[in-house]
Amino acid sequence: MNTPRSRCETVLGCIAAVLALSACGGAPAPSAAKASPSAPALPTACPSLTPTAVADCSPHDYNPAYKPPPGWNGPVFKPSLAFPKQLPKDQPTPWMKYDFKTQAKEYLMAARAYIYEGNVGRGASDWDVATNPVRTWYHMPWRWYGDHGREFVHGLTMEMPSAPGALDPKQKDWRYTWAVAMYGPVAGFTLGQVWRDGGAAPPDLKAADFASGALVTKLLFTTATASEVPEVEGAYEWPADVYTDVQSACPCVTAGCPRGITTVRLIQIDIAIKDPRATETVWVFGNLVYDKNAPGQSAWDKMVPLGLMWGNDPWLTAAMKDQKPKQSVVFYDRETSPFATFAGIADLPPDVGGYEHLGCHGRLSGPVDNPKSACLSCHATSQYPPANAFPRGNISLCDDPATNGPLWRNIPGGTVWKTCVAPTFALDYSLEMASAAQNYYQCRRVDTACDDPATPAKEPEAMVRRYQ
Ligand code: HEC
Repeated sequence: MNTPRSRCETVLGCIAAVLALSACGGAPAPSAAKASPSAPALPTACPSLTPTAVADCSPHDYNPAYKPPPGWNGPVFKPSLAFPKQLPKDQPTPWMKYDFKTQAKEYLMAARAYIYEGNVGRGASDWDVATNPVRTWYHMPWRWYGDHGREFVHGLTMEMPSAPGALDPKQKDWRYTWAVAMYGPVAGFTLGQVWRDGGAAPPDLKAADFASGALVTKLLFTTATASEVPEVEGAYEWPADVYTDVQSACPCVTAGCPRGITTVRLIQIDIAIKDPRATETVWVFGNLVYDKNAPGQSAWDKMVPLGLMWGNDPWLTAAMKDQKPKQSVVFYDRETSPFATFAGIADLPPDVGGYEHLGCHGRLSGPVDNPKSACLSCHATSQYPPANAFPRGNISLCDDPATNGPLWRNIPGGTVWKTCVAPTFALDYSLEMASAAQNYYQCRRVDTACDDPATPAKEPEAMVRRYQ
């Protein structure tokens, strides 16, 4: 229908709510207390979203409803949108020296060095990716839109809330994860093919087809303080204009919240690499987490590999209690991990969580990701119209074939996850692309739902696969 849907009726908007184990669309809230014995249950009647009125649907750098306050003299985010016009040739891919299956740590550390190059050690210009002296990185257009849209200091978007007690038993208030993703030159070329004029014209969704060697990284910051969550002590900090209403009974998920300048701390770096050696998915996803006890001089040295995955292990099901995934490598030490108390780890039932574990059944996810899901499983659903696919049931059913079987298929990048009534565009594992496309059309009140014949897709043309 050509009417706005509430955030919780859309796949991307609902993910945050699902991650938080919070109320969605007025349904009774699952108990947030599961995350930690000390976490209070959510009220069941949190307000639903009233979409912010948007006067103009031209591209913006950040959500214009939240402008810099008078006298602000800090940085103001400007997305890097001067995408390469040709597919860049001869780009270094230092991770390719390593076999990600047997040299997973080396692979991730090579990617880390590449990501840091020209982006860190520049003081106030850190991550000002358009002026990186080594190579330019790029941002996704159309991420400014909505209550969780880009804030004005660093372009962060709200990814998910953490209920009181979810990160640490000492956590008294709502805390939020805010993040920003950057696309390297090869990935940036594809952004420019989809968003030909920086997002002013309709996206060419059939061009969402990343070339081999594309690398995307995402910095995830938490608003948690070290006094509540000691693991974040010494982490890299940014000021950001984020939700300030931390004591509300309801999370700022359904309705957004007032914003104000707050210190946020880097706890996770996500990495996605298109690597044709991952024959079943064509993507390798990995992450680094902040470990305050790791050796090294700077907070950047202390971002340590947590793991990587190149497939979903479709054979692995909830009935196989004593089996581990073979397509995820997780360097997680249950005894010494700095994130041992994070939601989804400490509270896992022993039948699924008897070994190092961050996602469903030991597959890779992150400390601020959904423990019932995994990187590739969630990202494989990227398409427009959205697939609305989430793990259902409790965590011990996360890979139960009857409940959640389709989520654990291995599908190659560029494959539609769920064929909709309307023509469907695979977005090659990019959930930011999916979010951006939804934002573009939601702003115009012409969003398309997967199962709704009354909302035909915008461009009923066949997908053209060029790079695999
Ligand atoms: C439950 C779903 C879910 C899981 C699990 C998940 N992500 Fe994401 N990821 C998202 C969403 C949604 C976005 C888009 C940003 C947003 O709207 O929050 C995203 C964005 C990203 C991006 C930015 C690039 C892009 O175009 O999407 C990267 C890189 C990324 N995730 C990597 C990872 C890694 C690595 C893991 C595992 C450690 C992971 N993700 C686990 C949902 C998920």
